[in-house]
Amino acid sequence: MTDYALLERQLAALLDTRDWLTNAAQTCAFLMQEVGELNWAGFYLHRRPQTLVLGPFQGKPACNPIPFDKGVCGAAARRLATQRVDDVHAVADHIACDAASRSELVVPIIVDDRLWGVLDLDSPRPARFSAADQAGLERLVDTFVAASDLTRAD
Ligand code: SME
Repeated sequence: MTDYALLERQLAALLDTRDWLTNAAQTCAFLMQEVGELNWAGFYLHRRPQTLVLGPFQGKPACNPIPFDKGVCGAAARRLATQRVDDVHAVADHIACDAASRSELVVPIIVDDRLWGVLDLDSPRPARFSAADQAGLERLVDTFVAASDLTRAD
């Protein structure tokens, strides 16, 4: 079991600048290192209307841009709700950036009632993300938001 309370304290200590770009790069590197069985961890930014643009990430080169009406990331952006997918092959409009991905968790990042971006995590293991993982990763997103100056992502 991942100790998310510990990761929260470690991430808060790591994010010692207010710069969102530096903090986003550090956050996805930290998650890739500390959360098991991930093949991709990164940010998509809401920099254009109804569109997510690739931001800092760890893993293989990824799909860009993603419109709000496509994929798991688009669903998180549209619904402003975390998307936890046990089997990406069962999602008709899942966007396959890396054929190794089997499950996915996408957390929307909302600042001042506006979508700032999403954090996307992919795993090669089906059903990698439990409800506890979702809660823990949502708290880590809160830690990133609290540590960073996030007005707009552009
Ligand atoms: N699978 C995502 C696209 C982003 S990649 O996983 C990095 C989706 O369906 O939205």
